[in-house]
Amino acid sequence: MSQTSSPARRTLEVALGSRSYPIHIGPGLLGQPEALAPWLAGRQVMIVTNEVVAPLYLERCRASLPAEVEVRELVLPDGEATKTLASVSRIWDALLEAGFNRRCTLIALGGGVIGDMVGFAAACYQRGVAFIQVPTTLLSQVDSSVGGKTGVNHPLGKNMIGAFWQPRSVLIDTETLATLPPREFSAGLAEVIKYGLIRDADFLAWLEEAMPALRALEPAALARAIERSCKLKAEIVAEDETEQGVRALLNLGHTFGHAIEAHQGYGVWLHGEAVGAGMLMAAELSARLGWLSAEEVARVRDILAAAALPLAAPADMSVEDFLVRMRLDKKNIDSRLRLILLHSLGSACLSDETPAELLEALIETFPRD
Ligand code: NAD
Ligand code: GLY
Repeated sequence: MSQTSSPARRTLEVALGSRSYPIHIGPGLLGQPEALAPWLAGRQVMIVTNEVVAPLYLERCRASLPAEVEVRELVLPDGEATKTLASVSRIWDALLEAGFNRRCTLIALGGGVIGDMVGFAAACYQRGVAFIQVPTTLLSQVDSSVGGKTGVNHPLGKNMIGAFWQPRSVLIDTETLATLPPREFSAGLAEVIKYGLIRDADFLAWLEEAMPALRALEPAALARAIERSCKLKAEIVAEDETEQGVRALLNLGHTFGHAIEAHQGYGVWLHGEAVGAGMLMAAELSARLGWLSAEEVARVRDILAAAALPLAAPADMSVEDFLVRMRLDKKNIDSRLRLILLHSLGSACLSDETPAELLEALIETFPRD
């Protein structure tokens, strides 16, 4: 993985051979004339966004495109509940109605919901067309826009329908975070904290110090958190694009979290909130296995609290509610539940040997809100 820098703009690379792509990070990148042009496949471009993001950033995104391209726009409804095959079908309908060919480019302008759906639409349209990620939430900037996981939810499980399909580039304009609601920002912090917990103890220690600056959107702190997160994710994706091994560690807290999201109904808990509570559950389970000390679990709880993330599961969720959903997790093999746990802070592992009684006791005694 290579890395270059200029005062306002940092560029990382996701190293995937002929499918390698850059991640540009900086304030004010959206709207700059060369921000998108080098990564367009041809002259047909469709910007897909949603009703919240369109009034804020659609014009700026359009302004980043060269005058000679044919630009279409599709504005979808907002929210996790819209992350469905029906919404993706609307993208395909719009592409076909516009007569877009195999050399078209889709631009995903928005958070992870838009990014995941547009990526999946691009993966399938005419057996695969180019797409560019322009993530506008913290969560999508540090996680979902990088790595090529695309897809939609199914009523029986989160992200159950999808494909691996890498973008041509990722454009992270850090200024877009200025309009993000604080609750959404906190949800993104969950994924930032995740990188420290699974792979980088120094980053975790820095985050513990920097949390107030991050929540105040201090530019230098934000730039460091986003860049370090993207770098860690890019390394993992380059090593294991299709999640045969190390990439599974990025799912710390997700098995519990996906169960919460699906049980509550998509969109009731934000994805990052569910992951936050899930990471605390994973840390407490790791402690019950004798891997983490009580002090380390307290550090996990404290940093999640400092990020204003939930520290308890939904009041009405029983042990069985969790287990039913967790058994559907994509990581499971031959009906063995596979969980990401922590050997220490900064070091995660995938385990399929957690005794059922221990897991059930953890879920039973974990606080409810
Ligand atoms: P989201 O896309 O729903 O965005 C959150 C909210 O913020 C939405 O209401 C959105 O319209 C609004 N918004 C977006 N940008 C804004 C801005 N700059 N200013 C004001 N409002 C803005 O949610 P998310 O947290 O970005 O993404 C969550 C999704 O990402 C989930 O579906 C999750 O499964 C997925 N995800 C995917 C991956 C992956 O690897 N593909 C990784 C993590 C999460
Ligand atoms: N967010 C998990 C992954 O990209 O693998």
